[in-house]
Amino acid sequence: MILYFSATGNSEYAARMIADAVDDVVVSLTPRLKTKDHSPIHSEKPWIIVTPTYAWRIPEIVTDLLNDTPLTGNRQMYFVLTHTSGCGNASDYARKLAEKKGMVFMGLSSFNMPSDHITMFETPSSEEAEKIIQASTSPLSRIAQCIQCGEMLPARNISIGDRIASTVINPLFCAFMTSSRGFHVTDKCVGCGLCVQLYPLNNIVLVNQKPQWSDRCTHCTACINHCPTAAIEYGRKTKGRHRYVFPKDVMRKTEQDQSIGLR
Ligand SMILES: Cc1cc2nc3c(=O)[nH]c(=O)nc-3n(C[C@H](O)[C@H](O)[C@H](O)COP(=O)(O)O)c2cc1C
Ligand code: SF4
Repeated sequence: MILYFSATGNSEYAARMIADAVDDVVVSLTPRLKTKDHSPIHSEKPWIIVTPTYAWRIPEIVTDLLNDTPLTGNRQMYFVLTHTSGCGNASDYARKLAEKKGMVFMGLSSFNMPSDHITMFETPSSEEAEKIIQASTSPLSRIAQCIQCGEMLPARNISIGDRIASTVINPLFCAFMTSSRGFHVTDKCVGCGLCVQLYPLNNIVLVNQKPQWSDRCTHCTACINHCPTAAIEYGRKTKGRHRYVFPKDVMRKTEQDQSIGLR
């Protein structure tokens, strides 16, 4: 079973492509995150966890959810991470998570996708994003092939920089860089409520048809990137920045091909 978390669609796409190649099902973790649902999940096939990289590790909210959710059946666990440039030493933390759940760690592979980290950096244009997505086809098929054959995903060399990023910078990022205080809404907001719906931690509510953020935030950027009128800003940094979400036509085609068995 493929369990995925995805704020802006990259990891959902990866999860769907792998599901198709290994003939397995995809399950989004977002409804469980939103409702704090920790009921058991069962799978006869290996567990494949697909997530974005947040500060060189699996997102904290996903690690916490998996720690709290009994997983029954198959005892093998694979990890696939999408990122913009790298995931540091995330594999060590993934291995610990798998072992804590009594699973056999089957490795972690990661590959580049377009950046959604709009609160810190520029995001790619649609044309740049398209090229990056196209280039993800070969790492994705290598990963799927490994899983299909029941092999471990190949380990890569971990540098001192990778260790520092995942072990030292990650906790600092989670403690000091994920405040929701900078988020605000402009008069472009039409009160559609999509930001409330998409946010994985239920920390946005509509008050007088305008979103208000409470403290609990992971900076997943779902709200700011998905807002249909680009009404959400983070401080002054995001003004004029391109909003990135995985291209809807490509995602729709993947879903349709899966539902009619073309893939
Ligand atoms: C809070 C946050 C932290 C991120 N940290 C990293 C990182 O450490 N390394 C990296 O290469 N990309 C990083 N990114 C980029 C995302 O991992 C990348 O765009 C990912 O594919 C988004 O996946 P999604 O569309 O499934 O949510 C970060 C993005 C966010 C929002
Ligand atoms: S998604 Fe955008 S337009 Fe819709 S309620 Fe949220 S901020 Fe307003």
